Amino acid sequence: MKLTVVQTAPQQCKSDLAVYFVRQGEKKKAPACHDREVDAMIGRAFAAGDFAGKEGETLLYYPAGDGKKNGATRVLVVGLGKEQPGRETVRKAAGVAVACAVKTKAVRLLLVAPELAGMKADEIGECLAEGVVLGGYRFLKYKSRQEDDEAPGRIDAVSFYSGKDAAATRRGVRLGRAAAEAACVARDMANEPANFWTPGHFAEYGKGLATRYGFRCKVLDKAAMRKLKMGGVLGVNQGSDEPPQMVVLEYRTGKKVPTLLLVGKGLTFDSGGISLKPAAGMGEMKYDMCGGAAVLAAMAAVGEERPKRLDVVAIVPATENMPGPGAIKPGDVITQYGGKTVEVLNTDAEGRLILADALAYGIEKFKPAAVVDLATLTGAVIVGLGHHRTGLLSNDDKLVERLLAAGERSGEPLWRLPLAPEYSKQMKSTVADLKNVDKRDAGTITGAAFLQEFVGKTPWAHLDIAGTAWDFTEKSYIPKGPSGVGVRLLVELIRNWR
Ligand code: BES
Ligand code: MN
Ligand code: ZN
Repeated sequence: MKLTVVQTAPQQCKSDLAVYFVRQGEKKKAPACHDREVDAMIGRAFAAGDFAGKEGETLLYYPAGDGKKNGATRVLVVGLGKEQPGRETVRKAAGVAVACAVKTKAVRLLLVAPELAGMKADEIGECLAEGVVLGGYRFLKYKSRQEDDEAPGRIDAVSFYSGKDAAATRRGVRLGRAAAEAACVARDMANEPANFWTPGHFAEYGKGLATRYGFRCKVLDKAAMRKLKMGGVLGVNQGSDEPPQMVVLEYRTGKKVPTLLLVGKGLTFDSGGISLKPAAGMGEMKYDMCGGAAVLAAMAAVGEERPKRLDVVAIVPATENMPGPGAIKPGDVITQYGGKTVEVLNTDAEGRLILADALAYGIEKFKPAAVVDLATLTGAVIVGLGHHRTGLLSNDDKLVERLLAAGERSGEPLWRLPLAPEYSKQMKSTVADLKNVDKRDAGTITGAAFLQEFVGKTPWAHLDIAGTAWDFTEKSYIPKGPSGVGVRLLVELIRNWR
């Protein structure tokens, strides 16, 4: 999808679909967008009681003319609602425009950026671009043939017009596109089935990023993990035929700046192991690598943007969790990286075992100023927060503040849950230092309390994305399937790090 900022007046711009955005007017007043012809059409629709500019409301028409006066085959007006529009309103409106384009098979779009009080032109451009790129995403790799009538439209090119604000809009569009394209990279990885996207693919992808952006990339294979005594990843991997990988990717500014460590759960398929999951919905467990996907995709954005205030290191422990003959058994005791022992009472609580190795290793090796891990860790977070907010657990209020702000700005909201000694106590074992599960109570918190044992005093935050990595709140720019959640949040966190 080609995105450009144009300065040709919208009336002269050739496109398959020109899109205008309008705020809902006062009671008896039609909404308007400062284009005489479009406003006349809105006025008639308003008088007929068909269009008031409510959020998400649309008016589609086919303008008369020979293509000279108004160069658009179709004109779409999208309502922004009554409330003062914010970043999320604009993203959603752009998503609505894309949905219309796909339906009408429009290939070239023109978006006429609205002027909005409280939002600068660059921010509007940023959110329009995000909505367009995220909303236009489809995963069609495994569709061998499309019935002709049902073949979805494919948007080729999107132009943005914002009058005198072209330079600011261009800056914003660039930011929005970078973040949204990174999120689509994560969606691509997650959409791949587990028989394609194996731990080896994480390793390959990491090496590819290193080549493209000059990162350092080290991949720990099984032998290296044995040497380092990473009993968590190795234990979880025992029942699988696919070798495990630990991908370590380093972006360095070359200056004396703090390091942010990102860790993502790369469980390419979670059958539960010997504590086997029920059959219903098990296919969704190919998405159990969404944390790892988010972290690597965020590194792609880091490579594009080259932040100056931060070094960023990403670690993705990757393996399957399978019940093969060598599989770890309930009751087994393993030794994590760093020497802590864990009684594995449920082999389906595997994410914390692989993350524990990665966190302990990453913190020891890179001495980060802050650590953020992303993981589809517990079904319990879905019980608690549903599919609308990612669970956030942390030992550091300052980091929480940064993350909450990034969540708000990116439209990927977080909700903090507590950590406390009482929860940590629940994870003590009678035969080992820790056990990997307790009773079901407070499942998301005890999962995080387990991880906390491996981060020491380093400021750390755990994002439980089990409810948001897929089936995320339905929105015009979030398709069914994996959402790419976490990527834009991380990009936002890194961009605003001071
Ligand atoms: N990957 C799952 C968590 C999950 C469940 C993510 C449903 C998305 C949807 C994780 O490895 C898991 O199985 N967790 C267990 C932990 C339990 C055994 C303590 C769970 O949530 O049931
Ligand atoms: Mn599991
Ligand atoms: Zn899992």
